[in-house]
Amino acid sequence: MTTCEYRPGLEGVPATQSSISYVDGQTGILEYRGIGIEEIAQQSSFLETAYLLIWGGLPTQQELEAFEHEVQYHRRLKYRIRDMMKCFPESGHPMDALQACAAALGLFHSRRELDDPTYVQAAVVRLLAKIPTMVAAFKMMRKGNDPVQPRDDLGYAANFLYMLNEQNPDPLEARIFDVCLILHAEHTINASTFSAMVTASTLTDPYAVIASAVGTLAGPLHGGANEAVIDMLQEIGSIENVRPYVEARIVNREKIMGFGHRVYKVKDPRARVLQGLAEQLFDKVGRDAYYDIALELEQVIEEKLGHKGIYPNVDFYSGLVYRKLGIPTDLFTPIFAIARVAGWLAHWKEQIGKNRIFRPTQIYEGPHNQAYLPLEKRLQLWDKS
Ligand code: ACO
Repeated sequence: MTTCEYRPGLEGVPATQSSISYVDGQTGILEYRGIGIEEIAQQSSFLETAYLLIWGGLPTQQELEAFEHEVQYHRRLKYRIRDMMKCFPESGHPMDALQACAAALGLFHSRRELDDPTYVQAAVVRLLAKIPTMVAAFKMMRKGNDPVQPRDDLGYAANFLYMLNEQNPDPLEARIFDVCLILHAEHTINASTFSAMVTASTLTDPYAVIASAVGTLAGPLHGGANEAVIDMLQEIGSIENVRPYVEARIVNREKIMGFGHRVYKVKDPRARVLQGLAEQLFDKVGRDAYYDIALELEQVIEEKLGHKGIYPNVDFYSGLVYRKLGIPTDLFTPIFAIARVAGWLAHWKEQIGKNRIFRPTQIYEGPHNQAYLPLEKRLQLWDKS
């Protein structure tokens, strides 16, 4: 094999051949299984989208109903998982709680029959069904409250919003939230999906696959950016402060959260749809105080950084929608995870269907033939920076 050029962050290096989703970062196109994201967002539901991503085609009415029914049936958590959650510190981040709970599910379903379609189907259903319940349960339990039980008469998004607050969600709010889940469901080989694929390639169980992806999504350069956007808008505080804020960040070579993307060099198509959803929501329940700051920020960044292809990404407007839905900021990334489970499972299924374990190489830069110094002769402390 010839030596390849090293590319930090594996930029532009294909990690797989996939038929799940497609991104054109120059023109701002995102497709799930060949269908444009705008059309899916307008016409589909999150569970139908998950079905499309995971099984490769749109379900018939009968298939969709059966899938929805199965997911609804498996929404409850085992009491042992709830008991485990009671021991989590209330100050812990919900992403850490979610990662622990996803991994713990594997303890209860330790069979690993990856070539059995019934096993694969059961794991898909269980993960899609229980992840939202885990997120909502942690939100209640960290305050010392019992988790709210899922309701069979509510759809996927409405049930999640209900479990968060024990209040019937408004139908428009539930639909907007469902579309948010659709928009976050899949996005080719990003960091968390790659993490899921690497874990999947060892033929471990799907719960370990999802747990590793959740841990990767948590970082501020990936899913965690939606939280950071709200903190940033709060820090900016007013429209007049936007320009000096941006200028200072550029001078200090600091990133502005919710902007820029490894693939998109134009405005992320998901940000466009999310902005529309935010406006629909504001029309109904009133404009968010941060929205005008966000609009000004987008304009100033386009002016200052547009030439570098820095535009709003998916995380820029999602936080404003979740804020208006009354969702606490530290649940924004877990909500991203609820949606992205669909994409991770699609990649898990694709990976195990044509598996070869990931084992890249490296370019060694360290020394050779070093002497082993006995402990008593080591005088100098290592520089561990
Ligand atoms: N603010 C200011 N400048 C930026 C930003 C930003 N948000 N993003 C990139 N740039 C600039 C860089 O300073 C760099 O400039 P230079 O060439 O003059 O040095 C150039 O654009 C390229 O930036 P890189 O960091 O090399 O781009 P990369 O593709 O590695 O990073 C990333 C992509 C991580 C998303 C980056 O844009 C970023 O950190 N954005 C802020 C965090 C964020 O919003 N993350 C969410 C991404 S979407 C998601 O994960 C779901």
